[in-house]
Amino acid sequence: MIKSTSIAPSNIAFIKYWGKKDSSLKLPLNGSVSMNLSGMTTTTTVEFKKDFTEDEILIENDDRKKTKDRVSGHLDKIRQITEVDMKAKVVSRNNFPSSTGLSSSSSAFAALTLAAVNALNLHLSEKDLSILARQGSGSACRSIPDGFVEWLEGEDSNSSYSYSLHPPEYFDIADVVIVVSDKKKDISSTEGQILADTSPFMATRLANIKDKIIKIKQIINKKDFSSFGQLIESEALEMHAIMLTSNPPLIYWQPGTINIIKLVKKMRTEGLEVYFSLNTGQDVHIICKRKDVNKLEGYFRKIEEVKRIIVNYPSVGARLSDNHLF
Ligand code: PMV
Repeated sequence: MIKSTSIAPSNIAFIKYWGKKDSSLKLPLNGSVSMNLSGMTTTTTVEFKKDFTEDEILIENDDRKKTKDRVSGHLDKIRQITEVDMKAKVVSRNNFPSSTGLSSSSSAFAALTLAAVNALNLHLSEKDLSILARQGSGSACRSIPDGFVEWLEGEDSNSSYSYSLHPPEYFDIADVVIVVSDKKKDISSTEGQILADTSPFMATRLANIKDKIIKIKQIINKKDFSSFGQLIESEALEMHAIMLTSNPPLIYWQPGTINIIKLVKKMRTEGLEVYFSLNTGQDVHIICKRKDVNKLEGYFRKIEEVKRIIVNYPSVGARLSDNHLF
């Protein structure tokens, strides 16, 4: 095979990855736990050919040289493993806005990794695919396995990978993403993460994070939605506390972000059990029980600063597709 297509989901972390101990291998300072998202996917087709003289990379809505160089760099890694020196054509499309903090790099590098590896007939285990995707973008390693996923911190490249804790249908929850602006963030998570340990609070975060991971897994095992919501909200705010107190500070929020957070709290006092999470960006992830999705959507449709609502359920990880983009 020489041409292959993959679809991979974005993911939302409940316990976050923020800070690296090795930035070229993308080894994290701590492990993390996430869920794959059914409504936010990247589809990527990769073709290798002897007569291509250079990589041709076409990413919908992103023509930046730095993005193309990152994709080519990742292909180089795969070419090295397979000892192939053919150049490639890559076409990639997201079904959601990119670079606004919706973790498009996770779905993008998971899809790219699976499509490229398969195009070159390399048969990797899920673990090895996850290790390879991690080197494209850290959080991409969590978009390879299905459903609810743990990324092990590990000690080296071989031990830092993701695996599935539970299949998608295990926990009946949803992630309703409220897009408050399509504006691209000015500092990418790659640049932001370098600053993590300039925050005076980072040491405290790292001292407690292993316990937090144990706790979230116990809570998910018990399907205890209230404890789950409380823990993921405080974790999202803790990560933003690190960002806000970095040097220089990182402020990813827009006024709409704060308004939505306040509305989430108000909805709870009115009896609807919903909780928020945030990544690097202005948009807000609202985690609710599956049965409450329609009510939630109806409520937010009426709010002025809401530009778009994306409903997600827990999803499978990266998979192959026959629908090539070219
Ligand atoms: O993989 P990156 O470099 O896009 O980092 C993602 C970081 C957060 O989304 C903020 C947290 C996480 O664990 O997904």
